[in-house]
Amino acid sequence: MVAEDTIEPVIGVIGGSGLYEIDGLENREWRRCESPWGKPSDELLFGTLEGVRCVFLPRHGRGHPIPPSHLNYRANIDALKRAGVTDIISLSAVGSLKEDLAPGHFVLVDQFIDLTQGRPRTFFEEGCVAHVAMGEPVSARMAKTLAEEAEKLDISVTKGGTYVVIEGPQFSTRAESELYRSWGASVIGMTNMPEARLAREAEMNYATVAMVTDYDCWHEEHEHVTVEAVIRTMKSNSTHARELVRRAIPALGKPRPICTGPGAAERALDNAIITPP
Ligand code: ADE
Repeated sequence: MVAEDTIEPVIGVIGGSGLYEIDGLENREWRRCESPWGKPSDELLFGTLEGVRCVFLPRHGRGHPIPPSHLNYRANIDALKRAGVTDIISLSAVGSLKEDLAPGHFVLVDQFIDLTQGRPRTFFEEGCVAHVAMGEPVSARMAKTLAEEAEKLDISVTKGGTYVVIEGPQFSTRAESELYRSWGASVIGMTNMPEARLAREAEMNYATVAMVTDYDCWHEEHEHVTVEAVIRTMKSNSTHARELVRRAIPALGKPRPICTGPGAAERALDNAIITPP
């Protein structure tokens, strides 16, 4: 028996470049999922891990056919919501904006700066106006668990940091990279917005594991970011990412009360809808 105010979490995993599977998944089944927002990036992989229900979505589709600007973020988040997901682990390849965040390092970011342009970023477009809080975009509970599990696996990990989300698909100019560094940002990528905003609107907890693949282009002693360099490091990162997901799912999947701490999303709409009923 589960008490009424207890949640049995369903863990969603959005796999970034280089991550297309969950190790140890049982009762696996790829299923096509519909969404009124259009087509998600791919079928969803359903299964259980140590009894915890989980759902995997390859962000760019299997084989990486969809670039960041063309992802249907709303369909992806909506499909995960309809699949029952309560907590999303977002795995993302990023460039580093800080000397001490070397390629291979993982960062449990807690903030975003959204520089994306023209991506549909809300479910509340017509008829119903909602303004959800985004001051703490990441679930502190999830980030803490992910950091603990990473440390147990001897993955070099930093807790906290700001992720600059650029539109891409080109990497940044050096002046842009230096500007983001002057803002104190930690990492740079192209995919976590509007993903994190939409997860909040859908009342799903969200945490990013940012996996550093390169030093962006500001670093004078390192080769400038190239796809080849990114892919090389991504391969070694993906081994760590798979181990981390394998352990984090059972840790995050224990029945728990509704979350109310920093970055919790489960009641995000309670005080957000401005349209009269
Ligand atoms: N993804 C991986 N490395 C990146 C970089 N340097 N800039 C933007 N996105 C990235």
